Amino acid sequence: MKIGIVGSGLIGGLVGTLWSRAGHEVLFSSRHPEKLGGLVARAGGNARAGTLDEAIAFGDAILLSLPFGALPDFGRTMSEALGRKVVLDTSNPYPDRDGLMAEEVRQSERGTGPYLREWFPGVRIVRAFNSVWDQTLAKEAHRAPPRVGVPLASDDAEALEIAAGLVIDAGFDPVIVGPLDRSRDFDLGAPVYDTGMSGPEVREALGLPA
Ligand SMILES: NC(=O)c1ccc[n+]([C@@H]2O[C@H](COP(=O)([O-])OP(=O)(O)OC[C@H]3O[C@@H](n4cnc5c(N)ncnc54)[C@H](OP(=O)(O)O)[C@@H]3O)[C@@H](O)[C@H]2O)c1
Repeated sequence: MKIGIVGSGLIGGLVGTLWSRAGHEVLFSSRHPEKLGGLVARAGGNARAGTLDEAIAFGDAILLSLPFGALPDFGRTMSEALGRKVVLDTSNPYPDRDGLMAEEVRQSERGTGPYLREWFPGVRIVRAFNSVWDQTLAKEAHRAPPRVGVPLASDDAEALEIAAGLVIDAGFDPVIVGPLDRSRDFDLGAPVYDTGMSGPEVREALGLPA
C-alpha cells in the first residue's frame, strides 16, 4: 500500500520504517523534508521524503503523527485533500506541550474521538498507535505472540479493517475497540495507556471478546 507519513518524528519515523521494511511504499514528510535523508536511508525499501502536501497526495493511507495542538488547524486546511483516504491518528493531548486546548479535551472526559470527528469532517479517521510508547514499539515489533496490542477506534468499518492490517504489518496485534467515541478507552490516562499490554491483555482489560 502507498502510505504518507505526516509528522516523521519518533512515532511517524518508527512506524513508517516498520511499514517500509514490510514492503509498503512510504513517503515520509516534514516541514523540512531535506532533513529526512537519514530516516529514509534507515527505513530501506522504497521509502522517500517529501512535503506534507506530497505525503497526503501520495498515500492511500496516511499516518498523522503530529502534536495534538496542531490538529485543529491541520484539519481545517487539509480535510478536503484527505478526502476518503484512511487516516491513522497517533496524537495525544498533553497540556504542557499543546496548551489549554489539550486541558479542555482531557477535562471534557469525552476522549479525543469526538474532537477529531469535528476537526476532520468526513475524513476516515482511525485512532491508532497513540497508546504505546515509541520505545515499546521499537523493541517489541514482530516479537513472538502474544504481540503488543494496538487499540483502534473509528466510525468507518472499512478503515478499521485497513488499519488493522497495517498494525499487523508493523508487527503488533490490532485490537478493534469500536467507534471514535470509544477512543477514550485508550486515550492518555486510561488504564491500558502506555502499559505495553499484549493484545489479549488489552482485550481483557477493555471487556472485548478474546
Ligand atoms: N513518542 C511516543 O512515545 C508517542 C507514543 C504514542 C503517541 N504519541 C503521540 O504521537 C504524536 C507524535 O509524537 P512524536 O513523539 O512522534 O512527536 P515528535 O517526535 O515531536 O514528532 C512530531 C512531528 O510533527 C511535526 N510537527 C510539529 N508541529 C507541527 C505542525 N504545527 N505542523 C506540521 N507538523 C508539525 C514535526 O516535524 P517537522 O518539524 O519535521 O515538520 C515533528 O517531527 C504526538 O501527538 C504524541 O503525543 C507519541
